Amino acid sequence: MKKLFKIVLTGSLALLCFSCYYDEFLEEEEIIIDPTETVSFADDIIPIFLSDNCAQCHNATLDPDLRAGNEYSALVPDYVTANNANGSKLYTKLAQDNHRDLNATSLALIKEWINRGAENN
Ligand code: HEC
Repeated sequence: MKKLFKIVLTGSLALLCFSCYYDEFLEEEEIIIDPTETVSFADDIIPIFLSDNCAQCHNATLDPDLRAGNEYSALVPDYVTANNANGSKLYTKLAQDNHRDLNATSLALIKEWINRGAENN
């Protein structure tokens, strides 16, 4: 009986830990961008580049050249395939490669912008 209690206790502790971890994981990953709201390159994406100061490194000396005014032509089509974020270096580099420590909302916006056609809007 004691042994059974131990097994049940260990089992529920493990389950408890896992469920906390799982909740945190979901909170971080599941950012849903409102489908009725526009994702704008000028208003939503460029500010991410500015706040992370991408152009400090990405300028005339390193592609993509993300200096002000040059961002769209530097990215599309070389680093962005419209409607395919997972096939776009801009997204995969930032999302999977730990290139920069962007927050989940910024990543979700970049993904949505690409998957909605990567317009220069
Ligand atoms: C501290 C310098 C630095 C900053 C800031 C920086 N990058 Fe980079 N980035 C690099 C270097 C160096 C490389 C090339 C080596 C590599 O692929 O990691 C690179 C590679 C890349 C690539 C892949 C290029 C290729 O040809 O494969 C992309 C896309 C990219 N960065 C986007 C960004 C974006 C967007 C930002 C801002 C959110 C940013 N980077 C901020 C240094 C930086």
